Amino acid sequence: MASEKSRVLVLGGTGYLGKRLVKASLRQGHPTYVLQRPENCMDINKIQLLLRLKKHGAKFIEGSLSDHESLVHAVKQVDVVISALSSSDISTTATKLQLKIVAAIKDAGNVKRFIPAEFCIDPARHVHDLEPAKTLNVRMMDVRQAIVEANIPYTSIAANCFAGYFVPNLCQLGSLLPPKDNKVSIFGDGNAKAIYVDENDIATYTIKTIDDPRTINKTLHLMPPENIRSQNELISIWEKLTGKKYERSTISGIDYLAIMNGADAIIQFGITHNYPIFYEGGYLKSFELKEGDKEATKLYPDVKYTTIEEYLKRYAQVTSRITSEKSRVLVLGGTGYLGKRLVKASLRKDHPTYVLHRPENCIDINKIQLLLRLKKRGAQFIKAIHTGRVLHRASKDLEPARSLDLRMMDVKKAIVNAKIPYTSVAANCFAGYFVPNLCQLAILLPPKDKINIFANGNAKDMRRRETWEGRREVSKL
Ligand SMILES: NC(=O)c1ccc[n+]([C@@H]2O[C@H](COP(=O)([O-])OP(=O)(O)OC[C@H]3O[C@@H](n4cnc5c(N)ncnc54)[C@H](OP(=O)(O)O)[C@@H]3O)[C@@H](O)[C@H]2O)c1
Repeated sequence: MASEKSRVLVLGGTGYLGKRLVKASLRQGHPTYVLQRPENCMDINKIQLLLRLKKHGAKFIEGSLSDHESLVHAVKQVDVVISALSSSDISTTATKLQLKIVAAIKDAGNVKRFIPAEFCIDPARHVHDLEPAKTLNVRMMDVRQAIVEANIPYTSIAANCFAGYFVPNLCQLGSLLPPKDNKVSIFGDGNAKAIYVDENDIATYTIKTIDDPRTINKTLHLMPPENIRSQNELISIWEKLTGKKYERSTISGIDYLAIMNGADAIIQFGITHNYPIFYEGGYLKSFELKEGDKEATKLYPDVKYTTIEEYLKRYAQVTSRITSEKSRVLVLGGTGYLGKRLVKASLRKDHPTYVLHRPENCIDINKIQLLLRLKKRGAQFIKAIHTGRVLHRASKDLEPARSLDLRMMDVKKAIVNAKIPYTSVAANCFAGYFVPNLCQLAILLPPKDKINIFANGNAKDMRRRETWEGRREVSKL
């Protein structure tokens, strides 16, 4: 029997929240579609993610936000549209994209529910924030106004603070991981309470609303009671979990705002967005529910939400369980396309496996989540490099590829000169880059209509195999 649940289209389905919305929609039994933009066809990580979502049951609809007709066509195939596009872009681009979606839904005329890309502190209650955060709230309200004027049934999700951005770093700036040196900055007296929500729970609650008449043309407020915490409370929970004690120093409101001087626009946005959360006692007051307001945990008591304690546990260091006598392996670039596969393969073969953890990773939410997944499988993270055996690869080609090969050979020479035992891995063609596209250029997915054949199409790229000395064939080993 065909599913009677609404068909859902997620725009931005490969984003940080978007992929969670796709999975939650599938878990709740909705036929679920992801907009597949032409730009995605060139990104190997997005393609791999789309394949994983497909495995979960997602289907794809081709379309582009810059092609109105394609968007209308996509929207017409579903009942519910969820926009998970980034809306914290402080340029006007994000707003323009949202308005394009509104226009397409209006023209399609069939959508029963639209969830706009908000998923933050309710902009209706925060239009008086400081600039530049204020502008963003005002723009979100403009999108809401356009939705209302187009008579599109909608639900706004006031998700409050994504836990991943605020909780593990104990609200510190410049990192998404727990502070290492046992020192934390306290904003004001550290007692202002904010609302922190697990991103998977945000997706679960969002999908719950789409067929629920109680949430039509309303804002759903996500306020898990256990997760309404002050910064001091967050720190105490982490201290209890880790047995550490943090030295707390206070940052006054004036010093906090001074961080904006000369800072990037995105930092300025972050500072002014967070200022009312940490410094203005009125923040929580603005969340007092008024008549007609809907709160997620009350509306859906069946959802077991993730508490702050549970969220933080993922970040606590695992005590070394490594007993294997096998070589310890350090993977540099362990969050890359190949790197994460090397980490997993090494763990599968019971090697104590380490990933070099660069400071740059600390500010990338997707890398942090990937590191957490690798940690769950047993990987450990280190900052220092211990060189044991180095795995290295090399190849020969025409210019300009040849220059790259020569540089790789320079590295190889340096390894040999330094008397470092090494193995070069001639992996040949990564299937993901050559096989699904049938070797076509500028696309990573199967070609839709015509196909280019290179020469007679019978070459098998066996040249080098005949010439390399000392080579070892993996399949024979
Ligand atoms: N409350 C909080 O603390 C908090 C924190 C972060 C985010 N948010 C909110 O959560 C929502 C989603 O944010 P996110 O961080 O998940 O976003 P994200 O990871 O940046 O993903 C946005 C997705 O939008 C699509 N996209 C990007 N540029 C596009 C373009 N030019 N045209 C069309 N599509 C484009 C891409 O997906 P495809 O390639 O699949 O199309 C991209 O993966 C936003 O509303 C944001 O404000 C809230």
